[in-house]
Amino acid sequence: MANTILVGAQWGDEGKGKIIDVLTEQADVVVRTQGGNNAGHTVHLKGQKYVLHLVPSGILRKGKVCVIGNGVVVDPVSLMTEIEGLRKLGVRINKNLFLSETAHVVFPYHRELDAQRETRKGRQKIGTTKRGIGPAYGDKAARTGLRVLDLIRPERFREQLAARIKENNEVLKAFGARPLSFKQVHEAYRQAGDYLAPFVTNTVVLLHEALRRGDNILFEGAQGTFLDIDHGTYPFVTSSNTTAGGACTGSGIPPHRMDRVVGVMKAYTTRVGGGPLPTENAEIADMLHAMGREFGATTGRPRRCGWFDAVATRHAAMVNGIDDLAITNIDGLDTMETLKVCIGYRCGRTRFDYVPSDVEVLSQCEPIYAEFPGWRTPTHHARKWRDLPPKARAYLKALAELTGANLAIASVGPGREQTIFV
Ligand code: IMP
Repeated sequence: MANTILVGAQWGDEGKGKIIDVLTEQADVVVRTQGGNNAGHTVHLKGQKYVLHLVPSGILRKGKVCVIGNGVVVDPVSLMTEIEGLRKLGVRINKNLFLSETAHVVFPYHRELDAQRETRKGRQKIGTTKRGIGPAYGDKAARTGLRVLDLIRPERFREQLAARIKENNEVLKAFGARPLSFKQVHEAYRQAGDYLAPFVTNTVVLLHEALRRGDNILFEGAQGTFLDIDHGTYPFVTSSNTTAGGACTGSGIPPHRMDRVVGVMKAYTTRVGGGPLPTENAEIADMLHAMGREFGATTGRPRRCGWFDAVATRHAAMVNGIDDLAITNIDGLDTMETLKVCIGYRCGRTRFDYVPSDVEVLSQCEPIYAEFPGWRTPTHHARKWRDLPPKARAYLKALAELTGANLAIASVGPGREQTIFV
């Protein structure tokens, strides 16, 4: 498999969890390199549904080493709860999970500030997951963040936390919010710190040892290209680099050791939260919601839905250097009579073949559509490329061609077996 970076080619929720699980079979090490518990990677296995937020999906397969890399922001209480929940479901977590000592820690004041800033934005709100991700990365950039290595050194942590709570309580008071109790936060974080200490290590060294052994490393991207802090629809983005470059900075593995980039995209488009979504369409949203699909794995919010946007995925292929594509949720379109695919944007007299940087311009863009006939046949039972109806094959081929990458995987349901290698 070589070293593979897996990224979302849209606005997140592309079905990465399932594809990661499938690719993990050939990996030795699986690494999360950015984001935090705002992510929700869903894997269905033998009738059991697992939703992973911080723990890499590789944990569900025996003998895989899982790493939470330096680029991730970690809410230690949430991670402890997640590990406990997985253990209760029979997942073995012992000497197969490692947490970077230089990952930054998310605190309750980050969550509270996230919520306060969202409330103040009113209709312009980002629609964050309220997990404190933006404020935590903000502290990292401002060099006021605390890291996992601080969390597990009790004396130092006590002092640093006291100073951070004092400063942040001033900010919270200015927002009219209740200040936090140092004692309560300290107790909860000390307990989580003790629980997590055995997992903590220098993951950069660990990953380079894996490279020297010739292990295959899979970099598990969270969120999607258009939520990237640099390349997404700013400010309606998350606060990390969700694109392929984030896998290098978030792990300490240099770019020339990466062999392949896999882009995951749905056969249509979805997004949670605010910001432009050029192909948004009520008909397709109603249909998917009525099928019980497209509700957020982390927050349960109904996702906004639209037609496949090939301008966006072509842009994603460009900034990530996508080699291979995995197209998911094909079965979601089984009942459609006609399918539309956006092949360009029109904004006044200007035509765009890439995603414009200014969200105000993007919000005014009208999609230019090409139409494809629907296949109107269930596809969930397909196991081979030839099992798919010809119209579905033509549609998928067109999506790959318009995106400009090689179609490698087609997914027709959440199960491992519902995966077609093209
Ligand atoms: P934050 O990451 O919680 O700050 O949220 C910023 C934006 O990213 C919001 O629009 C969220 O809905 C979106 N977002 C964050 N994580 C995910 C994810 O895992 N899937 C889809 N959208 C996400």
